[in-house]
Amino acid sequence: MKRNFPHLCQPITIGNITFWNRMFSAPMGGTDITNDGCIGPKSTAFYELRAKGGAGAVTVSECMVHPKTDGSHAYHLDTTVLNSLAAATYTADAIRRHGAMPSLELSHSGMFAGTYMTDKTRQKEMHQWGPVDTVRADGVKVKALTKELIAEIVSAYGEVAGLAKRAGFEMLLIHGGHGWLINQFLSSYFNHRTDEYGGSLENRCRLAIEILKAVRQAVGPGFPIEFRMSGSELFDEGYDLEEGCRIAQQLEPYIDLLHVSAGTYQRGFGDTHPSMFKSHGCNVYLAAEIKKHVSVPVATIGGLNDPAQMEEIIASGKADVVYMARALLADPYLPRKVTENREDEIVRCLRCFTCMAERAVTSTRRCTVNPLIGREIEGDEIRPAAIRKKVLVAGGGPGGLYAAYTAARRGHDVTLCEKETEIGGILKSEQALPFKHEMYELAGTYRLLAERAGVKILTGTEVTKAFAEDFGADALIIAVGSKPLVPPIPGLDGDNVIVVNDYYRNADRVGDTVVVFGGGLAGCECAIHLGQQGKKVHLVEMRDMLAPDASIRHRPLLLKEIEKYAEIHTGYQGLEVTAEGVLCRNLHAEEDDPDRQILMPGETVICALGQRSRSDVVSSLLDGAPFVRVIGDAAKVSTITNAVYQGYHAALDI
Ligand SMILES: Cc1cc2nc3c(=O)[nH]c(=O)nc-3n(C[C@H](O)[C@H](O)[C@H](O)COP(=O)(O)O)c2cc1C
Repeated sequence: MKRNFPHLCQPITIGNITFWNRMFSAPMGGTDITNDGCIGPKSTAFYELRAKGGAGAVTVSECMVHPKTDGSHAYHLDTTVLNSLAAATYTADAIRRHGAMPSLELSHSGMFAGTYMTDKTRQKEMHQWGPVDTVRADGVKVKALTKELIAEIVSAYGEVAGLAKRAGFEMLLIHGGHGWLINQFLSSYFNHRTDEYGGSLENRCRLAIEILKAVRQAVGPGFPIEFRMSGSELFDEGYDLEEGCRIAQQLEPYIDLLHVSAGTYQRGFGDTHPSMFKSHGCNVYLAAEIKKHVSVPVATIGGLNDPAQMEEIIASGKADVVYMARALLADPYLPRKVTENREDEIVRCLRCFTCMAERAVTSTRRCTVNPLIGREIEGDEIRPAAIRKKVLVAGGGPGGLYAAYTAARRGHDVTLCEKETEIGGILKSEQALPFKHEMYELAGTYRLLAERAGVKILTGTEVTKAFAEDFGADALIIAVGSKPLVPPIPGLDGDNVIVVNDYYRNADRVGDTVVVFGGGLAGCECAIHLGQQGKKVHLVEMRDMLAPDASIRHRPLLLKEIEKYAEIHTGYQGLEVTAEGVLCRNLHAEEDDPDRQILMPGETVICALGQRSRSDVVSSLLDGAPFVRVIGDAAKVSTITNAVYQGYHAALDI
């Protein structure tokens, strides 16, 4: 067979293990961890599906090695408790039986351990342990690890490594990056010790080397040991790539695979998990440079989801292995689609951070484009319907498309009607924003999957009450979405106003100065793009906060971008749109303040004041079939995540 991506599909031998391809699944902390730190069955199923999806290796994340000093957060595994070996063995087994190699990440959070989360007194009485005595920015006290404790931690790594091997793991990943304990020792930003663990580069590498030696002693020769490091800490006081190369050289004799990531969590998530504002593969240069200085195989990671790009990385020798985290949350079958030359079916990660945000907020997993996430235990095989039904889907946005795709996979006879000439619904507006282009392309991918599953798609066809009755569907899914909210503000119907949803069709009409009227997620993202185009942008928002609808992980990164590209005016209510801009009232100014009213200047005004459900259309269709389900924005204005999730479940219920 001639493979489209031969280098990605090529086996690689690391230590004495051969991995059947070079696409590895990166550590992604589980959410189903028992209270005493064992891998729960849902997490096992999560890892198993990444193996079934074809990854060469699947890394089980964040196994804590020394609970005494790393009380840590709720998702850490604790191998010291009863049952942990059984849970780990079942998980390694679940991965191994699909041909992927199970790997276990061993970590210690050091001064950033979240022991306060496991502190039952909630008094923040437990302290953290790091290289030196210090107080963290959040006020938590850190104590310097004594040499006795260092020795205990080192030997704990060895003990846990032995247990992991016993459980059936075929590789171990020692986490030495992202600002955790080993990274804290490597970095002179964190490490000010004056003993043999601090000062010179050799001394700062000592802890890592002692740990690697202890692990080697436990697992024996030939067993692959991987070391994850940040190639550069990517902030001024941290270590840079040049020092990263020298660290790699120090560690090389003790490892079989060097995994080069970037940044530290303590500076935000945008470097460790490259955001949509960064280029895909933005860390590859770090791996490529380090690879020139070492002879062990090198892995790269960070925003990778395009097989052509990943193929080039391996083919050109920039790295030997590519790791993916979010791309395999979005589509666990990505590696298999690559090996089977079905790359056009890959559902790409949008880097929207829903996965990271949901874990932090609700301790669950969610993914915008993959509704099965977190519930892999229920099985990813689509159950065929007992009776083939005639299904009509009204609306070709993401929810409607996913509902149609799922219903067709169940064997139903599915027709999807879209009123407009192009499918995609609200996703169409994303095509103007390069950093959200994948969100726009999502509709095309869902369309392709739906059509291959047998869905008939009729564009330019509106589902009215009469149409639905005539069609005679057994099941009707109403996915007609929402429409922009344009309140009766004087001048908002003027020629100089562009509704944000239509910006993609009107970008060439936008003048050099712009007022973006509305600072929700859509307004903020449009403002960033206009700023990137060199326009002078004023962003006006009545509330005192921008983008409250953005997730807690995306929002801080979004705000950083906005600050670069727009002048922000929160607490300003737009009163009237004129040819010169938007007349606003400062809601915090006293009545007699002469600056209470101010004109935000702009030749063009972008109206980004929110969306409203198409409730009139919805109510006209509610009797359109024996089974009716309203999904997505048509039910309640919300996220693409919810639209896709509801579409999937509506189709499963038919
Ligand atoms: C939901 C989620 C959980 C993660 N948990 C861990 C973890 O437990 N340990 C770790 O070292 N990295 C963790 N990461 C970071 C990833 O391994 C990876 O470094 C990062 O997501 C960048 O890769 P990507 O751009 O392919 O997503 C996590 C990432 C995600 C998205």
